[in-house]
Amino acid sequence: MLGLQWGDEGKGKVVDVLTPRYDVITRFQGGPNAGHTLEFNNIKHVLHTIPSGIFRADKINIIGNGVVIDPCIFKKEIDSLLKLGFDLKKTLLISKKAHLILPTHRLLDAASEAAKGVDKIGSTLKGIGPAYRDKVGRDGLRVGDILNNFEEKYKARVKLHTDQLTKYYHFDYEEALSDYEKEWFEGIETIKQFQLIDSETVINKLIDSGKSIIAEGAQGTMLDIDFGSYPFVTSSNTITAGACTGLGVAPNKIGRVYGIFKAYCTRVGSGPFPTELNDATGQKLRDVGHEFGSTTGRPRRCGWLDLVALKYAIMIDGVTELIMMKADVLDDFDSIKVCTKYKINGELTEDFPHELDGSEEPIYESLPGWNKALTGVTSENDFPVELSNYIKYIETKLHVPISIVSVGPNRSQTIERGL
Ligand code: GDP
Ligand code: IMO
Ligand code: MG
Repeated sequence: MLGLQWGDEGKGKVVDVLTPRYDVITRFQGGPNAGHTLEFNNIKHVLHTIPSGIFRADKINIIGNGVVIDPCIFKKEIDSLLKLGFDLKKTLLISKKAHLILPTHRLLDAASEAAKGVDKIGSTLKGIGPAYRDKVGRDGLRVGDILNNFEEKYKARVKLHTDQLTKYYHFDYEEALSDYEKEWFEGIETIKQFQLIDSETVINKLIDSGKSIIAEGAQGTMLDIDFGSYPFVTSSNTITAGACTGLGVAPNKIGRVYGIFKAYCTRVGSGPFPTELNDATGQKLRDVGHEFGSTTGRPRRCGWLDLVALKYAIMIDGVTELIMMKADVLDDFDSIKVCTKYKINGELTEDFPHELDGSEEPIYESLPGWNKALTGVTSENDFPVELSNYIKYIETKLHVPISIVSVGPNRSQTIERGL
């Protein structure tokens, strides 16, 4: 289950809705840069590291090897869930191969962003880039390392990082580090209370025994390290292939690929965004859609749906069915625009270019809006004809069916279409 845009498509809500159909829910990449929101029974909850299946007590949730974990944030998540009455010790398993985000990774993220100045990525400042850099550079610390000689290994890594902070970034780290380290080691103690597993073996055995597994993507395809709008991307593979490497599951074990998108488009952080609206319409989308980051609170940039980018994401991910979110946010528009092509250097194209450089002019088609409130709609039969036409239009352009339409943040505001 993957985000197809620049993240925040509503993955948390959908995984929670789909969880009853699966035995196991996994996260396979990213870390606490993610903010996945779920709403039900007057509870609104934002998850960062923990899979969105944990609110259904009979399910197993696994944090896979591809995830990067900040023990400090993990502890906060666990503590706040405990307050709500959810004790996850039996239902949440953690891969020994998942990498740890060290306190100094967070500081390196801040130092790197500050050094980039106006060219900064606009990262979530959670230490994601530095943690994955150490993983690929073969300097990372993994959850399994907690089990022996941990302090020694930790100190060696921190020395490496503080050298970078002082010598390269001239970054004054000492106060921030000592404050943060204490909480971080408390987080390590919290992690130790969970079952630390060889998740690839456990997951493959579960598959062999006939259990069904849903892999919950974080971020979105446009933020993928290889195929997103590089360098304004995150540091992991957010695509279907990322589920293979981030869980240790072979490609031939993958069945359905749910691709999730908003009925319009948003992006948080820096980088190109061809259909961005820096006008009253963009502001209206932000206001009606409450488009503020779940992790950082930053206002999200808003714009019309971009079918060029969406078609590309579907190709990379092998999407078998689409899920359209936040249709209700478009309730009050006379006409709705959809970008079907880019004009680049005077040439029209439907193909996503190797690099977005801001020169792409979006070419739009307009469809009539429905001007009706969708939030109370409970069946496809009650869809206004203009919404049905919007759905049909997108399906025809993308050649993939839309199986679910979401019309509000609550679990219950989810409409399955009879395909
Ligand atoms: P994620 O990162 O993909 O899980 O998405 P986020 O949780 O960051 O952002 C999605 C936001 O939209 C959250 O605040 C959700 O509660 C909200 N949301 C999800 N689906 C709908 C919907 O159909 N309509 C409206 N109005 N809000 C929705
Ligand atoms: P979910 O899972 C939206 C963006 C950041 C920044 C870029 C790199 O909730 O959809 P990073 O901290 O990963 O180094 O930041 O990626 N970003 C997200 N945007 N939703 C997310 O996650 C994001 N995670 C990272 O804003 O532009
Ligand atoms: Mg989010």
